[in-house]
Amino acid sequence: MEKKVKIFAAPLQGFTESAWRVAHNEVFGGVDAYFTPFIRYEKGGIRNKDKREVLPENNRDIRLIPQIMASEPEEMKTLVDFIISLGYKEIDLNMGCPFPLIANRGKGSGILQYPEKVTALMDCVNAYSDDGISFSVKMRLGQVSADEWKDILPAINNSEVKMVTVHPRIGKQQYKGEVDMEAFAEFYNECRKPLVYNGDLCSVADINRVVEKFPYLYGVMIGRGLFADGSLAACYKNGTEMERDELYFKVRRMHSIIYERYSETIEGGEAQLLLKMKSLWEYWLPELDKKKRKAIHKANKLSVYLKEVEELR
Ligand SMILES: Cc1cc2nc3c(=O)[nH]c(=O)nc-3n(C[C@H](O)[C@H](O)[C@H](O)COP(=O)(O)O)c2cc1C
Repeated sequence: MEKKVKIFAAPLQGFTESAWRVAHNEVFGGVDAYFTPFIRYEKGGIRNKDKREVLPENNRDIRLIPQIMASEPEEMKTLVDFIISLGYKEIDLNMGCPFPLIANRGKGSGILQYPEKVTALMDCVNAYSDDGISFSVKMRLGQVSADEWKDILPAINNSEVKMVTVHPRIGKQQYKGEVDMEAFAEFYNECRKPLVYNGDLCSVADINRVVEKFPYLYGVMIGRGLFADGSLAACYKNGTEMERDELYFKVRRMHSIIYERYSETIEGGEAQLLLKMKSLWEYWLPELDKKKRKAIHKANKLSVYLKEVEELR
């Protein structure tokens, strides 16, 4: 049988929240682990929302890997201790977030310009690994140049890190331009850890292409493509395609699970709930009929919105 790689659900801040993760797992499945959007230390603490989102009781039945963002060991320890206190043993370290407010402060992809900072975080990884905690890293090729990883990778290769995910763009690009597959190939040759490819995978054919090109890949991580088409991971694993009727049926089911969860947790009444639900359609089902998408975005009452989604065919 053809070798299948692991499929990881990428973190998308504001989108792949616990409501989406639980619903996706229940309705579509096929994902080996879901990563949380980054949790960070800000204004002297961790946001209550981030704490709630990562609680095991809000992420039932899924393998969840909480992601943290830090640039200094002290900050990292505070976040790691919090995650460990919830019972998790796997933690992902964000070295890829390109948002200027973050990257310009030497965090996310910004840390890739400071190999000594990465080394200090790797010392922290090694110390926790002795206690049975395993770490992965999610990174880009660099912040301003696509070869900054060359000064970072030795520290990662020499550390106890268990897995590396690479999104082959640089921070300055954010999500624009092409992924740099040549630089990824170089990274692939140099990396001594199980390697996961991430970026612009939207179909089973896309996954197969990258897996064929890089036969030693440990897995692929998918963000927008999986949010767009929830069946992607399961279809890759089963080698099947999903008919449109079944896909839309499952989307409606997933929607109602997400809606139920958000109606219990979103503060600010109907208006906020409606905004939250509508925002999901930024990435959901991009091939949706234009008229339908417009009607969903234009709905100014929950009842109108829900009717539009219920009639999705
Ligand atoms: C809206 C949005 C939010 C994101 N939030 C995070 C995040 O919290 N942590 C992270 O590591 N990456 C984050 N990413 C990056 C994605 O995880 C992923 O690396 C990127 O979208 C490329 O993969 P894709 O083409 O499969 O979506 C975000 C991306 C988007 C578009």
